[in-house]
Amino acid sequence: MSVRRIEVQTNPAYNVYVGPSALEKVHECGLQKDCVFVLADEKAWSLHGKALVGLEAAPRLEITGGEDAKTLAQLGSVLDALTASGLSRASTVITFGGGSISDLGGLAASLYKRGIDVMHCPTTLLAQVDAAVGGKTAINLKLGKNLAGTVHQPRGVFADPAVLQSLPVEEWASGLGEALKTALVGGEASLKSLEMLSPELTRQQPETLSALVADCVQTKARIVAEDPSEQGPRRALNLGHTFAHAIEHCAGYGAIPHGVAVAVGVSLALEASAAMGILENGGLIERVNKLQKTLGLPSSLADLRGRHDLEPEGLLAGLAQDKKGAVNKPEFVLVRKPGDLALGVGMEGSLLQSLLG
Ligand code: GLY
Repeated sequence: MSVRRIEVQTNPAYNVYVGPSALEKVHECGLQKDCVFVLADEKAWSLHGKALVGLEAAPRLEITGGEDAKTLAQLGSVLDALTASGLSRASTVITFGGGSISDLGGLAASLYKRGIDVMHCPTTLLAQVDAAVGGKTAINLKLGKNLAGTVHQPRGVFADPAVLQSLPVEEWASGLGEALKTALVGGEASLKSLEMLSPELTRQQPETLSALVADCVQTKARIVAEDPSEQGPRRALNLGHTFAHAIEHCAGYGAIPHGVAVAVGVSLALEASAAMGILENGGLIERVNKLQKTLGLPSSLADLRGRHDLEPEGLLAGLAQDKKGAVNKPEFVLVRKPGDLALGVGMEGSLLQSLLG
């Protein structure tokens, strides 16, 4: 099976390589080992670091991945490590891990000596289908997630399905939730493709995984090229996220995997779209519910409430924190049909109460 190459036409453009042995392409980029620094998730590195051939001797910082890695203190440690390694402005940071590692490493690279190159080797499904592509970087602040960050496009992304075999169940579900969102944003062909792949996805075959990741990357590459700094069309990629952030905030960050909350957020966005007369065909809700079932994802707040405290008041408080809208005026992405979304939509309190009740 060959490695797919998807070009993200930003300025400058870069390639996302998807498929078995994609990690070997890092070596083929001709990087000098004294000009490279690896920021790795320690667990991912111990399982799969060997696949990054030729860079065993490069300076490396291994850290524990996950949201807790995205702090100001950890950013300082990474910047200190880059400085201690004597990296010049011509150097490259290579991240090896999930979305938290690409967010943190991308931010450090964008700041070190006013910006050096970064390449991402995403090792979770969520990072392969979403986080590692498009240049968003971030850390969390005391008052909220991803409140400090930059847009710093990578020079390359290398997504190998082999590294996904060892993913814990919840990480897997999290990636599928983001893939579902991306398929809806991508349009009818993307949604049909996910419907076709979904029965096979639980078997985790490299070919099926590569097809899923390539579909998502293609959609994201198209949207990011059009709007790299999220002034307009890129906001479509936030479908389901206003609700998801409220769910995560209410349950306590980390209690529900991000993409799982996104899956429920997508359902709530579809319900809201129907209630506001925006959704063109109610059949889409059934299609998405069927997909969620096949993918083992929850489709409603009720599916989460057995295990999590998600009282309407807590969810409303979470919505008020939405960083995309004005204070206390959360904004939503709603759906007319696959690939045709309404951006920045406000919602009546009574509709929110009924959706979250
Ligand atoms: N995760 C959504 C975006 O990169 O725009």
